[in-house]
Amino acid sequence: MATYKKRTHTCGELRETHIGTAVTLTGWVATARDLGGVIFVDLRDRYGITQVVFAPQHNSKAYETAQSLRSEFVISVTGKVEQRPEGTANADLSTGQIDVAASELTILNKAETPPFAIEDTIEVGEDIRLKYRYLDLRRPEVQKNLLVRHRAYQITRAYYDKQGFVEIETPILMKSTPEGARDFLVPSRIQRGKFYALPQSPQTYKQILMVAGFDRYFQIVKCFRDEDLRADRQLEFTQIDVEMSFADEDDVLAMTEGLVAELFRHILNVQVKAPFPRLTYKEAMEMYGSDKPDTRFDLRIADCSDVVAKSGFRVFSETVKTGGIVAGFTVPGLASYTRNQLDGLTEYVKSLGAGGLVYLKVNQDKIDCSVDKFVLPEEVKAIAKKMRANVGDLGLLISGPWQKALTILGTLRLEMANRLKLIPEGTWDLLWVTDFPLLEYSEEDKRFVAVHHPFTSPKPEDIALLETDPAKARARAYDLVLNGNEIAGGSIRIHNSELQSKLFSLLGIGPEEAKKKFGFMLDAFKYGAPPHGGIAYGFDRIIMLLTGQKSIREVIAFPKTSSGMSLMDESPSEVDKKQLQELHIKNV
Ligand code: AMO
Repeated sequence: MATYKKRTHTCGELRETHIGTAVTLTGWVATARDLGGVIFVDLRDRYGITQVVFAPQHNSKAYETAQSLRSEFVISVTGKVEQRPEGTANADLSTGQIDVAASELTILNKAETPPFAIEDTIEVGEDIRLKYRYLDLRRPEVQKNLLVRHRAYQITRAYYDKQGFVEIETPILMKSTPEGARDFLVPSRIQRGKFYALPQSPQTYKQILMVAGFDRYFQIVKCFRDEDLRADRQLEFTQIDVEMSFADEDDVLAMTEGLVAELFRHILNVQVKAPFPRLTYKEAMEMYGSDKPDTRFDLRIADCSDVVAKSGFRVFSETVKTGGIVAGFTVPGLASYTRNQLDGLTEYVKSLGAGGLVYLKVNQDKIDCSVDKFVLPEEVKAIAKKMRANVGDLGLLISGPWQKALTILGTLRLEMANRLKLIPEGTWDLLWVTDFPLLEYSEEDKRFVAVHHPFTSPKPEDIALLETDPAKARARAYDLVLNGNEIAGGSIRIHNSELQSKLFSLLGIGPEEAKKKFGFMLDAFKYGAPPHGGIAYGFDRIIMLLTGQKSIREVIAFPKTSSGMSLMDESPSEVDKKQLQELHIKNV
């Protein structure tokens, strides 16, 4: 038998239509105000807040007990729903027209004074919030994020199920998959000296599932990467992982657009327009200086290399001669920037690795250029024209190797947009970036590394380049970008074991090593691998953007800090000597 009365309604449910009804509510005391002769309690659960009124005329015992109520006590209250007196309705609350006149009160549990108030706006450091995450998670704002997340899981599952995708779990203890990050390793007790790796993604398994004939697979799955953390990165994060057989880029992209449209429609009531625009990697870099361009504002980059190729200013001409780029963008109306502000910008780009910043201010009568001692007035004019800089505008130029100069411009572009508040709120810019390079040369490792991962197929027309100029080969890879954030990435895979071996050798993975690391995959591919491709969405990032948060920690129930700590349960933590011994690990 219950020792207390179970709720008849939630704290977000009661309306004027319930007036006169006897109800029982359970929840946490958000506030208790004793006005002498009457006590007002805001009772909270995850559905909302209802005002409960304790007064001797309603019930003297309940009134007396209510005097001991403090914040976060857990109670069960029975009473009658009443209209709030004239002038005391609260339009901000969905239950704001009514209150409950309490006739019974049971205190189910007391609570210590919480270290911060359980409200949306609190002035408290994130560390405290994370240490007391169970209290933080009581805050409606944080709960809302997790409820959106819950909704997104359901929409995702319903969508892929309807499209004939099969949800299959893949192992957490597995062999290392190369996604480019460092692995988390788990020592095996039984297999002395051997380790499992936690999946950086289920990439190898999902490809094997295609070989096994599942045709369409998806999974909402935890991935683990031991990398430096940022606002949009966690050591463990969630992907919606997808793979399709007999599919090309258009199939994967269209299927992805379908889910993104559903998420926007159900969660934000926003219709996004599919198909989403596509930019090649080269276009994205040359227009926006980024492989995840924020296209909500303009500030487009213009390549000025041709107009300065013969410049007497050697910084320009030498850059162009050695295959680099001289490029920049115009900030409308910013010719008024002072010398000081421009010096600040120069310092800023230098901190990003630029040699310097060239600027031009287009005035009514003439163009002031920071290097006009070296550059002819006609050239300055030609640059301004190329950059479409008009009177009153400021042009900002960088020169250097293609990727480096454009990347710096891309960062500067974002910086200027933020400074000048050019990024509109409430706009959703979705676009695909395609045709990434297949390989990039790692100066650190002195070899090529895969830009996406080593199972990504080169474009058929670029396969010959693998022999002659591998750095120029493009991949059948694509990323989905939302408001300048990479929210998904994938590729069409290599399904032929010879081409796969070729790729491994280009990546400096010899036949022996390839066999050791991926022998199972190369073997599987010998038994009839269908053409296939897929994608993985960064689920946390998508929820972060849909809920308007600045960090994925806000949409993860128990996130790690930027130094990889879980402050609530204090992991990572030291373990017993005995545990280490069992794992054959020496205590270093
Ligand atoms: P990729 O490595 O691009 O692709 O990852 C897919 C998406 O996952 C998100 N993401 C992260 N989110 C939070 N924290 C992290 N540390 C983190 N790392 C990545 C990004 C990214 O777009 N197996 C391939 C997919 C495929 O080829 O199908 C993969 O994992 O939003």
